[in-house]
Amino acid sequence: MSARPFGVKARLAQELCGFTGSPKAFREKYNVADKGQYHRIYTAEDIRRIRMSMLSLSEDSSREKTVPPILNFRMAKGGTGKTTICGNVASALAMMGHKVLMIDGDPQASLTGLFGIDWVSENITHIGDLMNRNEKKEKDFVDVQAAIWPIYAGGMLDMIPADITLADSDSWLMGATNREFVFSRLLKRYVDVFAHYDVILIDSAPSTSLLTNTLMTACKTLLAVVVPEGPSTKALEILDSNVHELNSAFADAGLNLDYHVIVNRYNQTKKPHNDALSKLVSTYPDQINDTIVRDFIGFVRQNDAFDEKNNGPVLEKEPNSVGARDVLDLTKSLIRMFDIKLADVNSLAPLASVGRAA
Ligand SMILES: Nc1ncnc2c1ncn2[C@@H]1O[C@H](COP(=O)(O)OP(=O)(O)OP(=O)(O)O)[C@@H](O)[C@H]1O
Ligand SMILES: [Mg+2]
Repeated sequence: MSARPFGVKARLAQELCGFTGSPKAFREKYNVADKGQYHRIYTAEDIRRIRMSMLSLSEDSSREKTVPPILNFRMAKGGTGKTTICGNVASALAMMGHKVLMIDGDPQASLTGLFGIDWVSENITHIGDLMNRNEKKEKDFVDVQAAIWPIYAGGMLDMIPADITLADSDSWLMGATNREFVFSRLLKRYVDVFAHYDVILIDSAPSTSLLTNTLMTACKTLLAVVVPEGPSTKALEILDSNVHELNSAFADAGLNLDYHVIVNRYNQTKKPHNDALSKLVSTYPDQINDTIVRDFIGFVRQNDAFDEKNNGPVLEKEPNSVGARDVLDLTKSLIRMFDIKLADVNSLAPLASVGRAA
């Protein structure tokens, strides 16, 4: 894994904390560990500590153990930006002080690669392995904790990575009892581990499969990532029918899955994009996120595993870019929508005056 320090400079840290005083006051108040170090890099852990102190909160180990909100990025088409949005929102959530678990649910393992894990040479236990062992009741072999890789220090951003063998999941899922709920059963059984996080994000494969289905049914609202172009909007119709089929098949089990649309790679100079966007807005008026993520070359740069200088989330690398600003706005709206907490309080409370989001 990459050894570069994950973190942000003081000005962005101040923004992420919602501290409205002067930069000098922020540095003096929250720079205790490195007094005098002007260019201090603030980690996600620092930001959590600062925000908790601003809200007079402390870590509560007696907190009720429940599975946190799950954000599952889905689309029945490849290349719409699921992995990009998932990875960047995950990093932004952590940089806002939340404890975040990412699950790579795609055998292509792009999210795993985005965070520098070389799945070809590493020994990975993926989510398919965990679910399979849990179904077989191989209790001793289900070690969820051991499958988790740390990305940011202090458990602020962790990941259950994937590798190509996750593609084999449908072969055993086929014979599993109540196969659509194997992921929910894993979450429930190991709630102690999952409850440690404020939010879980899943990067899904583009195909519709037993694997994507089981990862979907544990959620309330899916996040459908679309590019405002014909093929992508057509794929949204496929996802829509996939959701309806699951809901009607499992109505008795109380399944009532919904989806919310995130428009990505929007280029306002392209007429087809504007046409497709208008169509999306009129077809899904209540389901589209207000933040339209613009086409931004930094998202492509960050994917290059060999470019140590530029890879990694845009918020860290280019915090004032349009890409980072869109990611922050989107993240704030998802915090509201999914009620993502910071140690039991609505985490946006002290951030009301920060950023463009209302
Ligand atoms: N807003 C954006 N601006 C510019 N490039 C983008 C943007 N979002 C994603 N990309 C680029 O588009 C390509 C596909 O993105 P990504 O891998 O995130 O899509 P995906 O939906 O996860 O694909 P797959 O279905 O294969 O998993 C990548 O090269 C990524 O860098
Ligand atoms: Mg992907």
